[in-house]
Amino acid sequence: MSHNEFAISVQGLKKSYKNVPVLEGVDFQVKAGSIFALLGSNGAGKTTIVKILTTLLKQDSGHATVNGFDVISKPDNVRQSISLTGQFAAVDEILTGRENLIMIARLRHLNHPHEIAAGLLERFGLTDAADRRAATYSGGMRRRLDIAMSLVGNSRVIFLDEPTTGLDPEARMEVWKIIKERAGSGTTVFLTTQYLEEAEQLADKIAILHNGRIIVNGTLAELKQLFPPAKVEYIEKQPSLEDIFLTIINKKTHA
Ligand SMILES: Nc1ncnc2c1ncn2[C@@H]1O[C@H](COP(=O)(O)OP(=O)(O)O)[C@@H](O)[C@H]1O
Ligand SMILES: [Mg+2]
Repeated sequence: MSHNEFAISVQGLKKSYKNVPVLEGVDFQVKAGSIFALLGSNGAGKTTIVKILTTLLKQDSGHATVNGFDVISKPDNVRQSISLTGQFAAVDEILTGRENLIMIARLRHLNHPHEIAAGLLERFGLTDAADRRAATYSGGMRRRLDIAMSLVGNSRVIFLDEPTTGLDPEARMEVWKIIKERAGSGTTVFLTTQYLEEAEQLADKIAILHNGRIIVNGTLAELKQLFPPAKVEYIEKQPSLEDIFLTIINKKTHA
């Protein structure tokens, strides 16, 4: 197995806040160039994992590497090889969309920041709004700008923490399209979501975080096999994340 096959590798990760355990031994690996969706309900610990992997927070125990770099001993290398779109937008509202992008390109010491900004504005359908302050943007536009900012500089791994929470369906589909395009060009995407449908649309692998552990990790087809056959009256209904939890937890209880 090649050393670089996994862009992210996590083993036995534990984290408590004060004395309250949130992560109780999390293990998973993400193949380079794939889209990995971490599913979990509100408060499951998704953002905590993102923060640890992006070196914003230290785990209590366990190991995590990103692009082969240990998050504790090589945080600078990790930071140089990733980008993060946090759950709460990093957009500076006083600046225009264009100025936000130019600022990030400058912070990353890239050549031709104006050209980079113009290209991303075009790709994200923000050219017309480029020279308006971000404060005037709709939620969908702001999120697109936020994701565009995370794409400045071609990071090998991008982290998207609930990229579509709070977006209307149209804006959500736009964001999905952009994420797919990005993954198609070889970038590894780590995304968290509360929506099973989002994971279905995007992810090569789906993991579910529940009670501090990864309780399921597999392809969509593998996840679907965990379901009992649908009842006739529910055939049109997509299983919710809660349905998955209940199914798996019941199996565990009766196993
Ligand atoms: N800085 C903190 N101090 C104390 N508790 C926290 C802190 N950050 C998160 N938590 C708690 O840890 C749990 C997991 O939070 P989080 O990782 O944000 O979950 P998610 O992103 O899945 O919604 C929640 O119960 C949350 O209240
Ligand atoms: Mg979160």
